[in-house]
Parts: sequence; structure tokens; C-alpha cells
Amino acid sequence: MTAIQHLFDNNKQWAEKRTKENPEFFKRLSEQQSPKYLWIGCSDSRVPANALLGMDPGEVFVHRNIANQVIHTDLNCLSVIQYAVDVLKVQHIIVCGHYGCGGVSAALDNKSHGLIDNWLRHIEDVYRFHQEEMDQVTDEKERINLLCELNVIEQVANICKTTTLVNAWQSNQDITVHGVVYNLHDGILKDLNVSANSK
Ligand code: CO
Repeated sequence: MTAIQHLFDNNKQWAEKRTKENPEFFKRLSEQQSPKYLWIGCSDSRVPANALLGMDPGEVFVHRNIANQVIHTDLNCLSVIQYAVDVLKVQHIIVCGHYGCGGVSAALDNKSHGLIDNWLRHIEDVYRFHQEEMDQVTDEKERINLLCELNVIEQVANICKTTTLVNAWQSNQDITVHGVVYNLHDGILKDLNVSANSK
């Protein structure tokens, strides 16, 4: 018995339940995926893409990293975007931040966190771009939440500038990039109304 035996047990139960509900479920999914959505979210365990969207396996292509960032030189994220746009032909890319994000908070606290500080430097840049707006807010929680929103908006802009999106839009591919923030307190997504497409 391994220390994670309960996970295998859970998995077996889950697979059996899905098969009982729909005997074709795994057969259909094993043959192809055709998700309409690419989700770029935070790795935070409380923000699971499929669950909070009420979506089944096969419905959303997912990339997650700390503080939902799209960095111009991050081949991991850029490859996910390219595959989602060029091969899967997703129609929507959703960048989802969340209020109270630990990564965003760590970028603001002027403490040392080791290796991850290099990753969080990009969020410090977002702060610098919006320093005037940020510095009008004094409450620490509100400052973090504002930076969570500004960070999402920045990442939406970063996606729009990737070669993948520029090329897709040039060839009139129908694809829209959205920015949203998730509230851990009530499970609700807020649209930041920064959606962008080629039209
Ligand atoms: Co987070």
C-alpha cells in the first residue's frame, strides 16, 4: 500500500462513475480533443479551471503557472498558446487571475523568496507601469487585489503581442482573448472587460 493509494482509489471510482454515466465517454475523448477554450491561470490549488467552469475533460485546454503570467520568452507558455491556436483552433483564450494571489502578494512584499523572485520580477514590472494608480491605494489587501487585476490585463496584452496571435489575426482566425479574475471567497469570476480580437 503506497502513501497515495487513496488517490488511485479515488481515480478508479471517478473513472467508473464517468463510464456508468456515459459508456462512450473515454472512448470519445481518447480519439480526439477539440476544446474551444484555452485557460491560462494561476497554479493555486484553489483555482481549478475545469471545476469552476463546470467543464468536463476535453472542454478546456489548460496552462497554469504562478500568478498566471505570459512571459515573452517562456517557451512553455508560448508553446501552449501556439498549439491551442494553430492546431486545436480554440476560439477563446482566458487569462484568469485571482484575488489574494500569493505570487502577486510576494512580488509586493520586498522580501526574499529564493528562485521564484526571478519569476515574480515580471509582476514588479506591472507594478512599476501602474505605480501612480497603485500608490493611491493604501490598504494592503486592496493593493494586492488591484495588482491582481492589472497583472491579468498586462498578460492579455502580452498574449495579443505573441507571434501566434498576430499571425492568427492576420489570417482572420476567429479568436478572442479575455481577462478575468476569480474570487476565492464566493467562487465567482469577474470579467475585466478587456477582451480583444482582430475586429
Ligand atoms: Co495565485
